[in-house]
Amino acid sequence: MGSSEDLDERSHQVSIKYEGVYSCLESAFRKFYGLPSTASSKNKSPLETYQELKFVAPAIWYYAIFEKTKYDRFITKSDMVTSVKNWHLEHAKVYIINGEEMILTLFQFDEIVKHTLATLLHRLNHNIDLIVDLGGGWGHRLFDLFLLGVKSKEYVLLERSIAGRRCSNLVYSLFSNLFKFSCHHFDWNHLEDMPVFEGHQNVLLFSTHSIEQVPELENKTFDILIDKFPDTENLYGVHLEPVTFQIPVEKSNNPLRYERDMKYAMAHKYNLDFYNKLSRTKNIFIRHVSPGVFDSCYGNSTSVLIWEFRR
Ligand SMILES: C[S@@+](CC[C@H](N)C(=O)[O-])C[C@H]1O[C@@H](n2cnc3c(N)ncnc32)[C@H](O)[C@@H]1O
Repeated sequence: MGSSEDLDERSHQVSIKYEGVYSCLESAFRKFYGLPSTASSKNKSPLETYQELKFVAPAIWYYAIFEKTKYDRFITKSDMVTSVKNWHLEHAKVYIINGEEMILTLFQFDEIVKHTLATLLHRLNHNIDLIVDLGGGWGHRLFDLFLLGVKSKEYVLLERSIAGRRCSNLVYSLFSNLFKFSCHHFDWNHLEDMPVFEGHQNVLLFSTHSIEQVPELENKTFDILIDKFPDTENLYGVHLEPVTFQIPVEKSNNPLRYERDMKYAMAHKYNLDFYNKLSRTKNIFIRHVSPGVFDSCYGNSTSVLIWEFRR
């Protein structure tokens, strides 16, 4: 258990980091892609532009954190795209995907994550009113879901960083006549401050590597979250999070991965108690657990976990 000062300090560092990351994305999207898109702007097809954003985003993200000066040097879009192509090739690495070892660029890896998430949500996707990304950054996971045909009446991004929310609205300008999207403030540490979503019966919540950012969750985290959707008849949660070591029996099933992931989470002040807090929440039933579906073998393997809330 960290002291509350340690946890506050950590939360502050994470906040600064992501405000910086999404501000860089936002300025690149404005400068090189002419966003926000308007009816009169001479954008290529919105889909082509979006695919380019998806391609450049991981590299800009990396430059923002590790090589700020490099990012600032790009004068033209072609400079940036050449650098990003090289970055993808240089950073290709070994991943284990559902037990299969392969070398992938981050772009390729993210395509796999995108399709995995869409397949999981498709299976739960009956007459969905609302799909909600919990800690969804610049909103790309929701846009991907829409483009892959995971239908919902509304797509909602919940994100703590102001820059992430601004950036998501900017990217949404590519699609604004196609589906209903909104974004709102959301902090895992202060869920009481998030909005209430009334009048929605079939709701899917999901997260990808967002809970990881919060070392400890409040005991009532999932009770508070569920109360924010007071009218649901069907409420599901789907998580792709690096919580493999938290899953019971993982220590004996895969001791090497268990040790590696646990050490990684401790060293990076990542979450340690998601599984515990979720499984103790009244009326939440964990329906599906797939440990370590994606692993890059340096710790931090991603597991899939699906729960259902029954009143
Ligand atoms: C590794 S990024 C993943 C973003 C997004 N889910 C994705 O898959 O691209 C972690 C995200 O968690 C968000 N985050 C960090 N701390 C948070 C908190 N206390 N509450 C809500 N979101 C938080 C960050 O702003 C960031 O968008």
